[in-house]
Amino acid sequence: MAVTTQQLIQWKQQGRAIVALTAWDYAIAQILDAAGVDLILVGDSMAVVLGYETTLPITLEEMLHHAKAVRRAVKRALVVVDLPFLTYQESVQQAMHSAGRVLKETGAQAVKLEGGHPAMLETVERLVQAGIPVMGHVGLTPQSVHQLGLRQQGKTQEASLRILNEAIALEQAGVFSIVLEHIPAELALQITLKLRIPTIGIGAGSDCDGQVLVTSDLLGLTEKQPPFAKVYTNLRETITKAVQDYAVEVKERKFPE
Ligand code: KIV
Ligand code: NA
Repeated sequence: MAVTTQQLIQWKQQGRAIVALTAWDYAIAQILDAAGVDLILVGDSMAVVLGYETTLPITLEEMLHHAKAVRRAVKRALVVVDLPFLTYQESVQQAMHSAGRVLKETGAQAVKLEGGHPAMLETVERLVQAGIPVMGHVGLTPQSVHQLGLRQQGKTQEASLRILNEAIALEQAGVFSIVLEHIPAELALQITLKLRIPTIGIGAGSDCDGQVLVTSDLLGLTEKQPPFAKVYTNLRETITKAVQDYAVEVKERKFPE
């Protein structure tokens, strides 16, 4: 059965951990979906497979293009699409327009946006009122890289209280789930206990309701990974070997037989 936002909340109540990963194309999305991943995020982290240094240059058109490919592959998982930098921060109207395009043009079920400050809360409320499921994202928010860097967030008492309050306010504004990125595990646990909606952690310890990783990190496809990523296999090596074997066989006229 297809995963819904309500299902995720039920899983939290039942203590069933939520498995999330990112995808950027049809082939990867098909593999993840068939392997039983619950939530597939078309994250703006696909910047790494497009050769960008940060997530900032990603456009809404690029997200739509990749989200359509992902959506075509997915039968079961909930598909969530990141709204890229400056396609939702300007006004509620801009956010509505961008999120509307995601749902109408890609068939994805939800959008994700970064931050929990008052202007964002109003935006979330209005999107949710319009019937658009929204996922929140607090802690390290990579679209603010030029202000925050890529450092762990919530290290002081004051900063951790601010993140906790943002998470609570986002839940009140209507998000169905929230990503906690690169914050201390104790803070992530505190937020997870406080909220009714599921927390999905990345670099936020093991007590979140679910976990997400950037798939290219998990697969060892990227040149370098953030400190909190776990590399489960080294696809760079596997691909290099396959390509070198092919090159040798072509040059020795062994392929095709
Ligand atoms: O873009 C992304 O992959 C994300 C995850 C790290 C949550 O936002
Ligand atoms: Na993102």
